[in-house]
Amino acid sequence: MTEKRALFIIFGGSGDLAQRKLYPALYGLYYQGRLAKHFAVIGTARRPWTDDHYHDIIKQSLVGAPGSAHQKTEFAEHFYYQSHDVTDAAHYVTLRDLAEKLDKQYALDGNRVFYMAMAPRFFATIAEHVKSEQLLSAKGFNRLIVEKPFGRDFATAKQLNDDISQAFSEEQIYRIDHYLGKEMVQDIMPLRFANPLLGHAWSKDFIDNIQITLAEDIGVEERAGYYETAGALRDMVQNHIFQIIAMLTMEKPARYDAASIHAAKRAVLSAIKPYTPTQVHDKFVRGQYLGGDDIGLSYREEDNIASDSTVETYVAGRVDIDNDRWRGVPIYIRTGKRLKAKQSRIDIVFKPTSDNILPTVNDTHVAPNVLTLIIEPETGMHLTLNGKEIGTSDAVSPFTLDHALDQDELAKAPEAYQRLMLNILDGNKLTFTHWAELAASWHFIDAIRTVWDNDKADGLAFYNSGTMGPQQADDLLARDHRQWIWQG
Ligand code: BG6
Repeated sequence: MTEKRALFIIFGGSGDLAQRKLYPALYGLYYQGRLAKHFAVIGTARRPWTDDHYHDIIKQSLVGAPGSAHQKTEFAEHFYYQSHDVTDAAHYVTLRDLAEKLDKQYALDGNRVFYMAMAPRFFATIAEHVKSEQLLSAKGFNRLIVEKPFGRDFATAKQLNDDISQAFSEEQIYRIDHYLGKEMVQDIMPLRFANPLLGHAWSKDFIDNIQITLAEDIGVEERAGYYETAGALRDMVQNHIFQIIAMLTMEKPARYDAASIHAAKRAVLSAIKPYTPTQVHDKFVRGQYLGGDDIGLSYREEDNIASDSTVETYVAGRVDIDNDRWRGVPIYIRTGKRLKAKQSRIDIVFKPTSDNILPTVNDTHVAPNVLTLIIEPETGMHLTLNGKEIGTSDAVSPFTLDHALDQDELAKAPEAYQRLMLNILDGNKLTFTHWAELAASWHFIDAIRTVWDNDKADGLAFYNSGTMGPQQADDLLARDHRQWIWQG
């Protein structure tokens, strides 16, 4: 295991993301020995913190992580805090001096990771100053990590992309989608391309429909400010769900490398045509959660949410891919907050046998084969097949092959952010999104958003917290004579 060398400059170093995800992820790499002596972190934010206070914050973020207090203290000593106003050029000069000093002190080989972990409205300004105040190192690598949301529609995403591209090349930009760091999402390629059994059946000839569910039981929590401007469509569909669709439906990439995978994803995403307003009404539904005794507040009653908000906390829809492999295969998607349970899963529903000669229980149809990938919480997969009922009966009846990923191995496996952080250090862009993928998904999302923004409350379906969302989501599939495989 080789030790990595790099300086991390985290914009938003006092923030929630840094404390919940980034510091534990870096510590995970430290604990494994991937980061050892040759790394340093500069955390920047407006607050006037001292290095000592910053070290306490770092250690607090590691509560529950393995390792001794001594190890955590040693780790925290690699962290430096810089009070920083992102619009003040002079602050970048101080930052550059500190970066150069740490580069020498820790022998970092000029490798720099610039991590944007703050409000997106500052990303362009930061990138501009990083360039103009010469924070980019002349030797080693310079990598820019951009958190979501990447724009709020195509136009703002393009503007942001153009702005950061003034300072960084596409090669140097790492757009985070943490779903790409999840174990089961990373399992999609091996499943599809290392198993001819599945690979040959992976098309409209054998697959009837695909269902993607990203259900959460939590509500909006403390993120009202952001969520009121985003809604579930921007928060979950534009990024995570579209990335999952791309991984599931792309053609086999020419090679196992980032460029080939990005090309394959881009091709399939551009075969998803934006809907007309009529199609939006027919194929997408949106909902908002209600509250009640024992089930918590309704969305409109949550802190800092407008009492007449029409922001959706639930989306379900049908996505169609207009290419030879997938034409006519609906991809049903749904995501929502305050649903019955937390579960992220993919159900691939195969076509049932059309010429059955075998007896079935009560003369029903032979059940379709269903391959289910559980991304979370359990992490594993199920395959429903048909066999003979046990005993003297000849009837065909379904059974399930279950494969749960080994819990001990999983416990040792890095969390999504840690994996992504390692990929950044390795220069492995496979698990990051290319601008062209985002552009395609924004075109699709914008068409829906425009209709919903015009409709305001019309068509917004309210659902009770703790359920599987509005009835309209079931009706959507019922109209196609189908139903959701996962009923909660
Ligand atoms: C984030 C969204 O991208 O994903 C959150 O902004 C959501 O609203 C989260 O809660 C869900 O991620 P996970 O990994 O918990 O399924």
